[in-house]
Amino acid sequence: MNTLPPLDEQAASDCAALCLDIQEKIKQNNGFLPFVDYMNWALYAPKYGYYSGRAEKIGQYGDFATAPQLTDLFGKCIAKQILQTLPQTAGNIYEFGAGTGKLAVDILKWLPENAWQKYYIIELSADLQQRQRDYIQNKIPQYAHKIEHLFRLPEQFDGVILGNEVLDAMPCEVVEMREDGIYRMGVKNKVKIIQNEKRRRAADSIDNTARQANELSFLKYFDNTLQGFDWAATKATGFLLEQAQNRLPESVFPYRTEINLQAEAFVRTVSERLTRGGMLWIDYGFDRKEYYHPQRNTGTLMGHYRHHTVDNPFVFTGQMDLTAHIDFTAIADAATEQGLDFIGYTTQAAFLMACGITDLLAELGDTAGEKYIKTVTAVQKLLNPHEMGELFKCIAFGKNIDPDWMGFGGLDLSGKL
Ligand SMILES: C[S@@+](CC[C@H](N)C(=O)[O-])C[C@H]1O[C@@H](n2cnc3c(N)ncnc32)[C@H](O)[C@@H]1O
Repeated sequence: MNTLPPLDEQAASDCAALCLDIQEKIKQNNGFLPFVDYMNWALYAPKYGYYSGRAEKIGQYGDFATAPQLTDLFGKCIAKQILQTLPQTAGNIYEFGAGTGKLAVDILKWLPENAWQKYYIIELSADLQQRQRDYIQNKIPQYAHKIEHLFRLPEQFDGVILGNEVLDAMPCEVVEMREDGIYRMGVKNKVKIIQNEKRRRAADSIDNTARQANELSFLKYFDNTLQGFDWAATKATGFLLEQAQNRLPESVFPYRTEINLQAEAFVRTVSERLTRGGMLWIDYGFDRKEYYHPQRNTGTLMGHYRHHTVDNPFVFTGQMDLTAHIDFTAIADAATEQGLDFIGYTTQAAFLMACGITDLLAELGDTAGEKYIKTVTAVQKLLNPHEMGELFKCIAFGKNIDPDWMGFGGLDLSGKL
């Protein structure tokens, strides 16, 4: 914990404000807040939630990097796939959770202008919406009038829907299987056992930058990182219990994991509203057997803060990103149960290769040039099985379109779902 860069004063004070709100909610909820609600507040609470705040989130100066930030060849590959599908639809593109706007720009720079009608962005974060507008205006002002932010889910989608690392950013349930049953995990307020004097002494062991901050914000920093919340558990019931019983392995105690009912419900709703077109999700995760493998007994929940991964989700509440991997079997079930055709499931590496990423690289020419060398390094990161190549998967569904997509022409992992 002490190796994490400390929060600056503003961030510490925002974190403190959010922690107080959540502590109040826990009190009102008889001392127990389901983890899914904690995660929802930590990420999306108005003003102080991670995605509501103004801090840089994505990229070198943020907390994590995503594929579009690494190279525009990622977006070009997606554009090639979109171009294959788009003519069979009304020609609209709908991007969920567009981050900095980089993927939208990379796609639209490559797509012929007459191949698409409108590019819609559906983005929860007001801060990111503004960043997206600015970036688009800066990079492709000629298309800005054809790009629109939507504030409600359309009643019908006719075109191509896509989202990169969006499903993992949706709040998930945490469950734990113990010998006496399955528990729904939640959050309780941690009893403050450290009194002021002890706190002051403990302060000396924290790093210099934190010590330099004034005492008030420092104490807030200390409280928020070490004292805010702790895990609590209550017996799982109803639908969550049923889902846990269906998914978790037998006789591994304790076995803690996540179930993302919200992401699954979201995919169900979007699928229901797709009248014609395709839907592509790219994210990190596994098929169900691998997700709920007996050895994966501490789950996949994780925090990202300034490019550090953090196991404890109660650190820097509202200032740290929280995510869990995706159970792609659940996503496939959610879409196909709504009548969509299954199109394909493969690794990110196989998808990008099948979309011709190496040809796009070769088109850059001058293999000794700086641009080429930088791009090769980025492409290696996207494709390398030990980096993003295998952990990240692509899954797609369609309705009333040709299900033969170029991106799934290589490795077919659908048998694993
Ligand atoms: C990890 S970021 C990924 C950003 C971007 N796609 C990229 O690859 O750089 C997750 C994004 O999903 C957005 N998000 C999460 N849930 C959403 C939802 N239900 N609808 C729209 N956007 C959502 C967040 O606000 C954020 O922009």
